[in-house]
Amino acid sequence: MFTEMLERVITPYGVDRYLELVHPMLTVRELRAEVTTVHRSTSDTVTLTLRPTRQWRGFTAGQFVRVSVDIDGVRRVRCYSPACSQHRTDGRIELTIKAHLGGLVSRYLYTWARPGLVVGLSQADGSFTLPVVRPTKILLISGGSGITPVLSMLRTLCDERYPGEVTFLHYADSESALPYLAELRSLAAHRNVRVVFRYPAVHGYFGLDHLRTVEPRFADARTFLCGPPGLMGAVRDVYATLQLSEQLHTEEFLPAPVVVDGSATGQVSFARSEVAAVNSGQTLLEQAESAGLRPEHGCRMGICFSCTQIKRSGCVRNIRSGAVSSEEDEEIQLCVSVPVGDVAIDI
Ligand code: FES
Repeated sequence: MFTEMLERVITPYGVDRYLELVHPMLTVRELRAEVTTVHRSTSDTVTLTLRPTRQWRGFTAGQFVRVSVDIDGVRRVRCYSPACSQHRTDGRIELTIKAHLGGLVSRYLYTWARPGLVVGLSQADGSFTLPVVRPTKILLISGGSGITPVLSMLRTLCDERYPGEVTFLHYADSESALPYLAELRSLAAHRNVRVVFRYPAVHGYFGLDHLRTVEPRFADARTFLCGPPGLMGAVRDVYATLQLSEQLHTEEFLPAPVVVDGSATGQVSFARSEVAAVNSGQTLLEQAESAGLRPEHGCRMGICFSCTQIKRSGCVRNIRSGAVSSEEDEEIQLCVSVPVGDVAIDI
């Protein structure tokens, strides 16, 4: 009650804007997190331990969080899956982030994250989780940075003293590119845990032969998969051919509906690039790409927020929610926004 009254008095900024002047972890509404440890286990990954503010409600292994950082005065948001067990007792979460070439936020965190850095955090989201009643046999498959949600599952199962059998199959470029190598080897010492690494340069890419060798009884297992598109597609194809798709669980994001508004009017201006084009009715990400620009993006589905840019003027419609907004200088997601008339974007 007191907080609401206080917020009304200090609108438009909200009480958290003032409290952060005292300390950025002092918040009434916003969920944030402080980096407490930073560890670089490979040449291009950084592992951060985060201490969330009191609003944090915890997560289930396999889910993701949105992390936001301010870079050059612009708030940037990205999704990462915690790699730690959901049963971690100190309330902290662990994120392992691969510094992608050209990845604005991942490179920023890889380079600049230090203990004491405060980032924005969302509550955990996503349905890529283990069933509450654990199956008796589980196969985890991951590749590259897709290791984090399935490692979280493996650590969670180990903390629960899972009595069934679990096989963890991970694809990496090489042993030196593999975060958590030592820990995975020690988890493999559990009686019922098997950990297998595959390096495509040595073993080739995923195929049915790998599956048969690594886990001959894979058809009896519930399989959880996260990795780059090539691996995801190959595993899906094998399971579909064997009519085992129901056994396979992946992080499913539904693509944004394809829309082309044939009656679109107006002009789209990409202000910083000094490029303009007739509004084609497609999403702003597609229109920017058609104009020869290469704005940063990730999922193209409105999930990861990596395509967020500032709209300087004009009106856009979100194709997922249908919401129309015409505020100046507002953040929009290019991949799910279509212009309604003239629009100027700051790219
Ligand atoms: S939200 Fe992921 S690319 Fe737009």
